[in-house]
Amino acid sequence: AGPGALAQDLTGRRVVISAGGTREALDPVRFLGNRSSGRQGWALARVAAARGADVVLVAANVDAPAPFGVRVVAVESTEQLRTAVHAEATGADVVVMAAAVADFRPDSVAGTKLKKGGAAEPSELRLVRNPDVLVELVAARPAGQRVVGFAAETGDAEGDVLTHARAKLARKGVDLLVVNDVSAGRVFGRPDNEVTLLDADGTATAVPAAGKDVVAAAIWDRVVGGLPVRA
Ligand code: CTP
Ligand code: CA
Repeated sequence: AGPGALAQDLTGRRVVISAGGTREALDPVRFLGNRSSGRQGWALARVAAARGADVVLVAANVDAPAPFGVRVVAVESTEQLRTAVHAEATGADVVVMAAAVADFRPDSVAGTKLKKGGAAEPSELRLVRNPDVLVELVAARPAGQRVVGFAAETGDAEGDVLTHARAKLARKGVDLLVVNDVSAGRVFGRPDNEVTLLDADGTATAVPAAGKDVVAAAIWDRVVGGLPVRA
């Protein structure tokens, strides 16, 4: 490789990345959603492809063109994302869950538009919990596959951001957790990011505030180090 050439350290690796935010329908026109822009997931896909990986991006409601050389599978709901991620994860070396997955969905979806003044005018929303795709991935993880999770945390009376993140790492059983401190509300929709990488062994690595491509490169550096050497 010449000067400035990018390491091709993901050549021959298959990676699956979820990005964006899932939407849960209330009726044919309304949904419950979240503010995830999909930018960090896009950056992860772009950087992985540039480093030689075969990349699939499972994209929930992201309005952006596919990164060069990346296959995009568009989904809307958590159930669609779940089905697509599990299907693509088969045979993958790395699965990264960067998507903001809705924790809850309405317990029923109206088949017709909910109207003001109608008999079905809602006064309350009943929610049920969605399956945890990340936990399912970890449970089904084939030998050698690395599973990466994201966590947006705020410090509170129960503990600081890292305390919450360590608890989440243990609960989810992932190989790496990318932790965002969202206390100041600085993350959503911004081009830059500042994260801490938490390894399964408890090591915390701070990645200083930088563009999402730089953060993505730091995440891949960490993941590549943990990949099994191939025959
Ligand atoms: N995640 C998932 N399925 C869900 C919820 C979350 O796969 N139903 C994944 C996210 O993609 C992310 C990680 O789990 O990689 C952590 O998401 P987060 O919302 O921080 O964790 P939760 O377990 O939902 O905890 P919290 O109550 O703090 O939201
Ligand atoms: Ca959540």
